[in-house]
Amino acid sequence: TQRPIMIQGPMPIEAEKFAEKLENVKEEQSGDFVFYIGTLDNYPVIVAKTGKGMENTAAATAVAIEKYNPIAIINQGTSGGHDPDLNVFDIVLGKRTTNLGALKTGDKGEGEGIDPTTWKPMDLMASEGSAGEDPNAEKARFYEGDKELLAAANAVKDKYTEGKIVEGTIGSADVWNNEVDRIKWFHTKYGTSVEEMEGAAAAQIAKAYDVPFLGIRVLSNNKTNGGQYNPDTATACQEYVYEVVKKYISTM
Ligand code: 5AD
Repeated sequence: TQRPIMIQGPMPIEAEKFAEKLENVKEEQSGDFVFYIGTLDNYPVIVAKTGKGMENTAAATAVAIEKYNPIAIINQGTSGGHDPDLNVFDIVLGKRTTNLGALKTGDKGEGEGIDPTTWKPMDLMASEGSAGEDPNAEKARFYEGDKELLAAANAVKDKYTEGKIVEGTIGSADVWNNEVDRIKWFHTKYGTSVEEMEGAAAAQIAKAYDVPFLGIRVLSNNKTNGGQYNPDTATACQEYVYEVVKKYISTM
């Protein structure tokens, strides 16, 4: 039997549009996670409504891999811009995805204050030892987007007419940054194009099981250039990802 392609979306508005496009759908649930199991061009496709945030996403990814053995995972949805050249409705293909919440603070005693700009990225996957003590862990970990998924996504770029599509870096954490200087700090230090709350969690678990992974994120807002939040971007993203999946299937 064919291994399914899995498309993840955190919120109902980021998953249900894609689920509606599947044929022969049956719904299954594990915990809070809803899986729409169906077909697209006669190929098995599962849409996962994971809920928001890193924990929901990591758990939903592990459960889905154990239960459904997907051949590839796309994590998609909305995001906030870190790059002033990107506008609301533009889409970022995650050539790299990284966890923006994995940080080690500076060494300060009582009364010496809090200084986030001196915090260092921390790589929890650098070794099995203490990340707090290991100098090799003082770096960000970047999860590479799968080459074939990226190729499929690039091949159908022209089908998307609501904005531009670029390759970039997706940053994730259970944080919504509204401080422009902090956003700039991430953009400079990590090269982030956008931020959201799920991609790096899914990428980390996909890698643990050696499942090809790609993050695809539409900008629903961009604090760096005044781009106002627009929830309609979630539908636009799913329509594009639908084309990506069709292309990917056609190459198998
Ligand atoms: N910062 C963080 N998360 C964002 N999301 C959209 N825009 C942003 C942003 N600027 C996404 C997250 C999460 C929900 C709050 O929307 O991925 O699922």
